[in-house]
Amino acid sequence: MRLAYSDTRSSPIVVLLHGFPLSRAMWDGQVEALGAVCRVIAPDLRGHGESESPEGVYTMDAMADDVIELLDALGIDRPVVLGGLSMGGYVALSLALRHPARICGLMLMDTRAAADTPETARGREETARTVLHEGDGHSMIETMIPRLFGKATREKLPHKVGAMLAVMERTAPQGIAGALRGMAARPDRRGELGRIAIPTLVLVGEDDVVAPVDEAREIAGMIPDARLVVIPAAGHLAPFENPAATNAAILGFLAEIPARAAAAPA
Ligand code: MLT
Repeated sequence: MRLAYSDTRSSPIVVLLHGFPLSRAMWDGQVEALGAVCRVIAPDLRGHGESESPEGVYTMDAMADDVIELLDALGIDRPVVLGGLSMGGYVALSLALRHPARICGLMLMDTRAAADTPETARGREETARTVLHEGDGHSMIETMIPRLFGKATREKLPHKVGAMLAVMERTAPQGIAGALRGMAARPDRRGELGRIAIPTLVLVGEDDVVAPVDEAREIAGMIPDARLVVIPAAGHLAPFENPAATNAAILGFLAEIPARAAAAPA
């Protein structure tokens, strides 16, 4: 899989996985601020941004394996700090549970550990068919906007909403369909969260209606070494909506990661 990515090349290494149907552009506020103190790698997951959009179902495992391939291609075999937002969080959980030796810290942002209900999975399949039939994701994106952003962002930062809208409108129909079908097929991970044996930051926007605070609290309660941070004035895209509070939480978390794992020379 040919993936596009941003890479700030210093240490420790932080890998950030975007949500659906976005791109690495959602991490601009993190790449810039965290890039000053660590190496930040933010790929476009398959079907998104500038990466390839092959046919088929993009399972969370397949997207996690793409990330492993990217790390291998970059010669990174020491553990990284892995963060993912929403769909990126599903991918991060897959990677954390199936390749635990590759990460030394986990950041689950505005995401869920439960599987889709049958009704949600059916809705995703219908949406995938509509997007492929219409040849763009426009009608799906229109319905998503109010659910992605918190009230404060919608009212006070319309340029931010516009920027993500433009990113979403550029996502290939085949990429949207592949990701929808992959998310619908993802397993319930809640029973496996107790196996995560590394420091974990669970971060959520206070106004997230897609993956709400209560669900984040539940996830944090099931991971042995987890802490919960609620980001004010933010909805489902907390790192993008309130980068200052998110970056402060991430930097505080990075300071706690055992230095030997995260900051060893390449
Ligand atoms: C996302 O932000 O990645 C999506 O809302 C995730 C989902 O639809 O479950």
